[in-house]
Amino acid sequence: MGMSIAPTHEIVNWISIKPNRDRYIRILDTTLRDGEQMPGIDLKPEYKLKVALALEDLGVDSIEAGFPITSRGEFEAVKMIAREISSSEVIALARANKTDIDRVIEADADAVHTFIATSDIHIKYKLRMTREQVIERAVEAVEYAKSHGLIVEFSAEDATRSDREFLVRVFQAVVDAGADRIDIADTVGVAYPIFMFDLVSYIKRNVRGNYILSVHCHDDFGMSVANSITAVEAGADQVHATILGVGERAGNASLEEVSTALAFLLGYRVGIKFQKIYSVAKLVAEYFGIEIPLNKAIVGRNAFAHESGIHVHGVISNPLTYEPIDPSLIGVERKIVLGKHSGRHAVIYVLKSLGIEPRDEIVDKVLAIVKDLGDQGIKIDTDKIIEIIRSVVGGGNV
Ligand code: KIV
Ligand code: ZN
Repeated sequence: MGMSIAPTHEIVNWISIKPNRDRYIRILDTTLRDGEQMPGIDLKPEYKLKVALALEDLGVDSIEAGFPITSRGEFEAVKMIAREISSSEVIALARANKTDIDRVIEADADAVHTFIATSDIHIKYKLRMTREQVIERAVEAVEYAKSHGLIVEFSAEDATRSDREFLVRVFQAVVDAGADRIDIADTVGVAYPIFMFDLVSYIKRNVRGNYILSVHCHDDFGMSVANSITAVEAGADQVHATILGVGERAGNASLEEVSTALAFLLGYRVGIKFQKIYSVAKLVAEYFGIEIPLNKAIVGRNAFAHESGIHVHGVISNPLTYEPIDPSLIGVERKIVLGKHSGRHAVIYVLKSLGIEPRDEIVDKVLAIVKDLGDQGIKIDTDKIIEIIRSVVGGGNV
């Protein structure tokens, strides 16, 4: 059922701990890069473009369009996206080497996202380099990209498992070399909120210069959204996110969750046009071939659905009793669902919304049938409700 209750347009802000949150937080969407690294997903360039156009419309600050060195199609996709997108920045990924960066330049992206690992485990077993070589390589990459006029974002891969003093040295060296943004990547999702708060504070305190501080959180322990928000609370200016949290392994921080929490829970400013968030989520689900879980925060079908008698009574009296935000803020309708947990208020609400006077005997009969069907495990969708009501009040009246 999609019956709506008059919106309150109130924003819940009672959790605020800090008064001054009037900062603009950039959102870098990486659905088309890290998101597309989700196992089993390869999007054709024209589908990537459609998603990019939807992301632009949604108001993301940066669209990470892909990793141009990986294939001809990926290069073409980034090039096409760079040509078609005008109001969001288009950024593309490159390892910290000239060949990768040249591909980003040829694709005509506005910005390069260059990265190298900074944790000892990656340096020793993957890169087979020394820490000093890592710094040298990072600086060379940033200088090279800057000399071609690109905006440069530098990520320290596996930053959260890196030695902090070394991480500061790497970040300081790239900022001194001209990097515009530095990014703390929680590559294997091992950070937790208090750790993230401490790490972001440490980097801010110890890396001097003008830079935008970003975080890139993975969801291996289900904490990517909490970590991203805590990073912002500690002073980060940008978060990386993906629609529906798609991405490597357990995925990345979900854009819907991070952006709504930043804006509606904590009062930060973001560029997202929230009314469009649900349709973009549906588009990405379709192209990625995934189902949006019913209970997914913000965009799941049940995110603003109510069945139990106590909750429905509360929501009908004042929606904020059992909803953190008004669903109309994100362009979706509240749903009142009938089932064995329903009470009289829900039935009265449904009858009224269908223009039927909720006389006691009708309410009692409908409720009895609904509970009986619910006990038998029968799903009561809109058609079924109308059928039940017809059987009680007579066909011509519904
Ligand atoms: O998770 C990660 O470390 C990345 C980097 C490329 C930033 O995606
Ligand atoms: Zn990642």
